[in-house]
Amino acid sequence: MQVQTGQQSSLPAADPASAAHSEIVAGCLRSRIASAGGSISFAEFMQLALYAPGLGYYVAGSRKFGADGDFVTAPEVSPLFGRVLGAQCAPILGEIPGADILELGAGSGALAVQILSKLQELAALPERYRILEPSAELQSRQKSRVAELPEDLARRVEWITDWPANLVGIVLANEVADALPFARFVKRQDTVNELCVTSAGSGFDWCERIAPTRLAEAVRNIEKDIGSRLPDGYVSEVCLALPQWIADLADCVDRGMLFLFDYGLSRREYYAAERDQGWLRCHFRQRAHDNPLILPGIQDLTAWVDFSAVAEAAVKRGMQVSGYVTQAHFLLHGGLQDELDNFSELQIREQVDLSRQIKILTLPGEMGENFKCLGLAKNLTDTPAVFELSDRAHIL
Ligand SMILES: C[S@@+](CC[C@H](N)C(=O)[O-])C[C@H]1O[C@@H](n2cnc3c(N)ncnc32)[C@H](O)[C@@H]1O
Repeated sequence: MQVQTGQQSSLPAADPASAAHSEIVAGCLRSRIASAGGSISFAEFMQLALYAPGLGYYVAGSRKFGADGDFVTAPEVSPLFGRVLGAQCAPILGEIPGADILELGAGSGALAVQILSKLQELAALPERYRILEPSAELQSRQKSRVAELPEDLARRVEWITDWPANLVGIVLANEVADALPFARFVKRQDTVNELCVTSAGSGFDWCERIAPTRLAEAVRNIEKDIGSRLPDGYVSEVCLALPQWIADLADCVDRGMLFLFDYGLSRREYYAAERDQGWLRCHFRQRAHDNPLILPGIQDLTAWVDFSAVAEAAVKRGMQVSGYVTQAHFLLHGGLQDELDNFSELQIREQVDLSRQIKILTLPGEMGENFKCLGLAKNLTDTPAVFELSDRAHIL
């Protein structure tokens, strides 16, 4: 996601309709907190704020993506992202007879449109482009977007409601892992406490309780893995849902390749001693800040991804790591240059626009370095060429 970083005090005010919606979501959260005896885990708070039926951020109708939404994702920044990814999909689709594409969490549908258009140009279209999208509201947006495609492309897209069985082909997930609800914890000497949320006046506040066994064990495993104890007072996150999500995904693939893009790090980087407030980020009207307890239901809540955890869960389920590269590397070595063949023939205005888009997608201070692509394969012989240089999988 591409946004400005700001202080909570500098956030723009919510418009009256959004503020009214947020009040309703806050009421729902307060009832749940009351019925749970006074507090709920942050993971449950996040699950409800983002996905409560009819109310949550991803489920109700707020704008979310794009310049007039809360954040901009790579396919929203530029069609170049999907076109390069499409070019990388083409040889894999050629290698596997009858291969499909499955996109997880397709947002506005922009990536699907970009990839299908590129694959049509390369005469490498899959028979089916499937989308697994839990939000009915986003599904309907995706359907409108796909309906604008030529009939031969649009007819290939279908929406599914559960993991498909025996999938053969390519799975794509851009900025989905960061949207899975995660637990927050704080170390208190040798004890792991879970950060929970309680009601406070018309808002919410943090409270702590001894972490449940699963969370405490996850933190102990992280400490074992990085070879040191996290210090007293250290706050961070663990996405307990992530290993199961990856396991479900790996189990449904018979043969194919997963390209997972997100902002994230190796476990050692993620749990570095100096990163003692974790990697949680909230997005509201193109501003990033760190208070998830405000604006419930109308702001996005995310955390960076522990890519070591993703790789570990996938390998446990029989997948191999094909490569782990920065988004800049993926684009620059994956065919971005080919997309610019006619650059000199474009109008100045278009050249300026394209240059701006490329900068956002690839510069280290923008999306180039923080965003990574992890490639995971099952029963494939060839590693995509894009992973052959500068692969950083060894740090996971
Ligand atoms: C930050 S948005 C990214 C959207 C899109 N991929 C893009 O790049 O613009 C997160 C997306 O993941 C979806 N999502 C959340 N949980 C999911 C899950 N368990 N499986 C599949 N998609 C999920 C959301 O509904 C939303 O479409």
